[in-house]
Amino acid sequence: MERAEIIDKLTGMLSPARLKHTLNVEDMALKLAKLYHADETVVSRAALLHDCAKEMPNDELLSVAASHELIYSDTLLRNPHLLHPLVGAVIAQAIFGIDDPKVLMAVASHTLGRPDMSIEEKVIFASDYCELGRSFNMDDIRRELDFNIDSAILMILNRKISRTLSKNREIAPESVLARNWILNELNTRAKGLN
Ligand SMILES: [Fe+2]
Ligand SMILES: [Fe+2]
Repeated sequence: MERAEIIDKLTGMLSPARLKHTLNVEDMALKLAKLYHADETVVSRAALLHDCAKEMPNDELLSVAASHELIYSDTLLRNPHLLHPLVGAVIAQAIFGIDDPKVLMAVASHTLGRPDMSIEEKVIFASDYCELGRSFNMDDIRRELDFNIDSAILMILNRKISRTLSKNREIAPESVLARNWILNELNTRAKGLN
């Protein structure tokens, strides 16, 4: 499906504010894709589709996820909003005809991250958090993104996890695994330079 057709379809599925966020994510993701040599077509498609299931009611998210056997932890069952990336990947395939696993993975990992993220996944994960329409202060992360996407992703995961802790909410294990992975990648690289 072409970009214009995707946007047209999304207009009927998302609120104007969510659509604006989506286009902001695409804008930032394309800049990062150039900087980090990610596949621009993959990044554009994944950015456009990343939140396509975000406005689905929880019962619908749970039923689509259950029918595709996507509920692999109790954390997801208790926090259905965390299913929107996985259900989004299902919808990207079923409704938008996207078969490229690189796009689907980037949609699926955009909120929690995961170990071994591809450069396209990193770009979408970071752009979703840092797009210019976000109101919270993250100038430090945006600055880091110009130089080192991995350390920016560590900062984002630290911040997401800290925020969840401060609200006394359940932490999704995927985020902890993703954080440990990127932290070790950075440490290994730093040791290699010594
Ligand atoms: Fe999202
Ligand atoms: Fe988003």
